[in-house]
Amino acid sequence: MRGYRAKMVEPTRLVPPEERERALSEAGYNVFNLPSDRVFVDLLTDSGTGTMSSEQWAALLLGDEAYAGASSFDHLREAVEETMGFSRIVPAHQGRGAENVLYGSLVAEGDTVLNNAHFDTTRAHIAANGADPVDCPTEEAGDFDSEHPFKGNFDVDAARDVADDVGPENIPAVVVTITNNSTAGQPVSVANLRETRAFADEIDATFVIDACRFAENAAFVQQREPEFEGESVAAIAREELSYADAVVMSGKKDGLTNIGGFVAVRDTPDLDALYDACRQRGILYEGFTSYGGMAGRDLEAFAVGLREAVTDHYVTARVEQVRELGEALDDAGVPIYWPPGGHAVYLDANALLPHIESSEFPGQALVCALYEEGGVRGVELGSFAFPDTDRPDLVRLALPRRTYSAEDIRHVVDTAAAVADRADELTGYRVVSEPSVPELRHFSARLEPLA
Ligand code: F0G
Repeated sequence: MRGYRAKMVEPTRLVPPEERERALSEAGYNVFNLPSDRVFVDLLTDSGTGTMSSEQWAALLLGDEAYAGASSFDHLREAVEETMGFSRIVPAHQGRGAENVLYGSLVAEGDTVLNNAHFDTTRAHIAANGADPVDCPTEEAGDFDSEHPFKGNFDVDAARDVADDVGPENIPAVVVTITNNSTAGQPVSVANLRETRAFADEIDATFVIDACRFAENAAFVQQREPEFEGESVAAIAREELSYADAVVMSGKKDGLTNIGGFVAVRDTPDLDALYDACRQRGILYEGFTSYGGMAGRDLEAFAVGLREAVTDHYVTARVEQVRELGEALDDAGVPIYWPPGGHAVYLDANALLPHIESSEFPGQALVCALYEEGGVRGVELGSFAFPDTDRPDLVRLALPRRTYSAEDIRHVVDTAAAVADRADELTGYRVVSEPSVPELRHFSARLEPLA
């Protein structure tokens, strides 16, 4: 059940096929280069693209724009304490700003950082500090059909092997990303967070949770982890984060805002030095400690958004809409990573386009075809986005929060089904130009179709 109604609308238009073809060619077959008015249903990301509530819009007017000591900062801090259980935060303009603040304070040249799976900006920040980001996904993550309830889990045994290999003293941080964006938005169980916390203690590492989608993760825990049956999402959300020493957060996801982020550091004496380092680095890169790159009004909207995100009412409908998209695609015969994640459905381009080698980017071929067919913008997360890794070629259809209707979802399903029907006609792509940072290739590379 949707549980909200539209109060403000933004027109969308499906531009004619020849205009879509031209726009895609001018974009160098990279949908990051498409003007948004050429896109009909925009599933590029769920990040900062959602719809704010009337309470959030009202809160914007209360923004205290003082450089220092703004009451809006206190409002955000109080909301974080209430929903996440952390009283110390360093604000940042968005998640990657928070990553710069945290990992720049925590990680040094030659270190190794472990994560269930690094998101692209996380990987790039670890690498930029001269450290090695190593993924430790659970074995079930590789099985696209497994019904395992927590395919986002961190594999502690694999992590222990890495620690034996590189030396535990060289691992300053163990990170768990909830939900696991790089593994099809799959959730992590609270049991796994407890186990990973114990492992971090064992090797004396700081335990970090990337909490971008902590509310969606909590909704899955409520549905799938028997210990939490009948508990509120809000209580589960606090429980999840209670194991972390530090949290890195993008408000653009489960903060239900268009911009914003922060680092939170547990208020214990042994983490004072980390908190202080983050505050100093925050001032240098983000702004003073009471705004960190956000306007006072953004802080207010973020505070309201966090509280809304952990209501059962909101988040149950949210994960349900994603599940409905996944089930409808599956029914239409489009191969997807099963089960659907919390924020997105991931299409399996290798299964749909077996005639296109990974080196010719089947995921990107599918992204381009979805746009040409129905003006639907998704994103490739495979051999194009992650060069030199052997990730499967997935295409993510991420749903902005509280934004699209059942008709829009139907259009996406019909579009994908039409592309699937003519899958054998699709060809691969080659990269024509790419940026110097390989971890960021998919944002700005240009491609061309192979004849
Ligand atoms: N961590 C995770 C798990 C993310 O998914 C993202 C962003 C970030 C950190 C960085 O946050 O965008 O606010 O700087 N993910 C978006 C996406 C961009 O499309 O999945 P940010």
